[in-house]
Amino acid sequence: MLLMVNDVDVAYGRAQVLHQISIAVDEGERVFMVGRNGAGKTTLLKTIAGFLAPSHGSIVFAGRPIAGLPAEEVARGGIRYVFQDKRVFTKLTVRENIEIAAHAAKIRLAEAIERVVEIYPKMTRFLDSPAGGLSGGQRQLLLLGRALLGQPRLLLIDEPTEGLSAGAIDEVFDVLEKSKGTVAMVIVEQNLSVVRQLADRVYAVKEGRVCSEYRDMAAIADPSVLEGVL
Ligand SMILES: Nc1ncnc2c1ncn2[C@@H]1O[C@H](COP(=O)(O)OP(=O)(O)O)[C@@H](O)[C@H]1O
Ligand SMILES: [Mg+2]
Repeated sequence: MLLMVNDVDVAYGRAQVLHQISIAVDEGERVFMVGRNGAGKTTLLKTIAGFLAPSHGSIVFAGRPIAGLPAEEVARGGIRYVFQDKRVFTKLTVRENIEIAAHAAKIRLAEAIERVVEIYPKMTRFLDSPAGGLSGGQRQLLLLGRALLGQPRLLLIDEPTEGLSAGAIDEVFDVLEKSKGTVAMVIVEQNLSVVRQLADRVYAVKEGRVCSEYRDMAAIADPSVLEGVL
């Protein structure tokens, strides 16, 4: 297993929001997390990425315990986190946004741009425009391109299609589809059609606990299966 989250509790101050969470992700596997708003999905991704420390339990990535390590250290180990808020440097150009990521990933700017454009060819047109002018879908594609630059072993993506138009959802879908197998992913997603088409495995989260796991996507084709979870 590439990632093992074992019996993890997480609290904000005195409010415990994750309870005995255990999940596992294999090399190259695509695992989706579904659940209502407030269930604790973002908290789980932030904990894996090192932005929050569990109060109990262990997180082991590539054989190394990482729970409680600072986020920069976790990132250096090969985990990237794409935040839910689609935040880019709005005043900087797209090229400059890519430059910052290229620097962090220690690759040349030209190569970084080439890789982002390979993922999303239309980005060529926006390279010299402020990233603040990009649509939600374009921002997400920029963020995904940036996250993939350092060739992470595990990518954590928080609601990549949230708030996007149908066309933009398709573009994000294509990028996720194309990167199948090259990098393991944990993706929080509310769009069940995206989940069913892309997931190797699904965990349902309810009130801070993993309440079920699905390996067979046909099993969640019937909406009533996830009733009470979503
Ligand atoms: N920074 C925070 N401080 C206190 N409580 C928080 C904070 N962030 C999230 N929460 C609470 O933790 C719970 C889980 O939130 P979150 O992980 O964002 O859920 P999800 O991503 O599934 O919508 C919610 O009850 C939320 O209000
Ligand atoms: Mg969330």
